[in-house]
Amino acid sequence: MQYKLLDYISKKSILIMKQSTQNLEVSSEQLSEYLIKQEPLLLFDLREKDHFEKSHIKGSVHAVCNAQSKEKIMPKIPKNTKIILISEPEDFAKETAKMMASFGLNAYFLAGGFSSWKGKLSQGQTGKIIAPDELAKKLDSVFLLDVRDSSEFSEYQIPGSKNIPLEDLFDSKTLEKIPKDKEIVTICPHGNRAMVASFALARIGIDSQTLEDGLAGWNQVLKPVTVVKDPTKIIQIQKVGKGCLSHIVESKGKAIVIDPLYPFEKYIDIAKEQGFEITRVFDTHQHADHVSAARDLAQATGAKLHLSKYEGYAFDADFVGDSDEFSFGQSNLRVIHTPGHTPGSLSYVVDEKYVFTGDILFVESIGRPDLRDQAEEFTEELYNSLHNKLLVLPHHTMVFPTHHGENVEASQEAFVSTIQQSKKLPWLDISKQDFIQKIVAITLPRPMNYRKIITVNKGELKLVHSEIPDLEIGPNRCAVDVS
Ligand SMILES: [Fe+2]
Repeated sequence: MQYKLLDYISKKSILIMKQSTQNLEVSSEQLSEYLIKQEPLLLFDLREKDHFEKSHIKGSVHAVCNAQSKEKIMPKIPKNTKIILISEPEDFAKETAKMMASFGLNAYFLAGGFSSWKGKLSQGQTGKIIAPDELAKKLDSVFLLDVRDSSEFSEYQIPGSKNIPLEDLFDSKTLEKIPKDKEIVTICPHGNRAMVASFALARIGIDSQTLEDGLAGWNQVLKPVTVVKDPTKIIQIQKVGKGCLSHIVESKGKAIVIDPLYPFEKYIDIAKEQGFEITRVFDTHQHADHVSAARDLAQATGAKLHLSKYEGYAFDADFVGDSDEFSFGQSNLRVIHTPGHTPGSLSYVVDEKYVFTGDILFVESIGRPDLRDQAEEFTEELYNSLHNKLLVLPHHTMVFPTHHGENVEASQEAFVSTIQQSKKLPWLDISKQDFIQKIVAITLPRPMNYRKIITVNKGELKLVHSEIPDLEIGPNRCAVDVS
């Protein structure tokens, strides 16, 4: 298995392998000295996993050297980081060190192989991972260590995480910032850099776990929260990494889903668990921050797909508009056209008690009208939709938006408001003229990849499902900051 490595070694590196390897050798004594001095290095054990778990050099981590690690991990290791490879016999480590050196890495191998080591040994495994779903359950109790570059971190991060770029993780002063009394989870875009970071931490005796599939995996976590139970049930499905919200509304065994998210299989699992049938799927508008799962969910469940007739789609659906009504179980859904965020935005009123407002009205704010570069035109529509169509609903009507902002606290785990509470939001008590002036004056960064996401949601571009996590990386940026 180890010799598979040779499959991908380039002709160039084979040539380099013919050169002397004497300067890549590290003796057992030298390695022992490095470890005692806590020199910044990565100690990778390339032996079979069961051999590693039985016995390995303290501070080393098991590493699989294959095409994937060559492509995804090696380029992320800082060039100045000393890497020492161990195998038994030494040949595989020697060849790998030569190959890594040919890529500019500071790589060495333990001369004489594992059996030449005279120092301390450990047992067991290293390189633990934590699934995004698991992390979501204990987010408040762990230390989130984001090892991306600071520019990447400032663009988007998991709230509460701390940034120490991978290359800085080898500085002992930086390590003082890592708490000793908390579970540590290392984070990067896809889990590769974070895995190297966990390796680096293990070397100095700090235990950590790597977030599986990184931020891309984190952005696909869906958390269900039941908000209303009887007689109609409302389950809010939260995409915790992005602040996207969608809703299942169930009545007498028949359910509708509003603004479903990927992975859409979650809705099918919930329906199966709770014994109801999804009969209708609605989107409030053409989303710009995430890929809509409405079409896939409708297809997978045989449910009817309802989309705004005021927006253009390149595929067929049941296109709905103002005043249309639909029934499910013993409940009723009424459509209101509420343009302003997009020209075709719809809100859905269920049983005259609940309103699903899409990106027009949030718990903490109001929707941004400028996603399609027509801010001025949309702003008056936004004002009219808010004041003449939504805020005129009965005070007790519960408001279910499609997003929440990054710093908004959930109330009993859900992001829900009422029309009465909404009326107190900033900018909803000012004149239309002042409102338009304020809204038009603000410029906000747009959601990452928004142009491509809109094209996908229109049905003009097909995506492989595995591309969705990367496309959705980043915050939703749907609300106006009224703070
Ligand atoms: Fe939106």
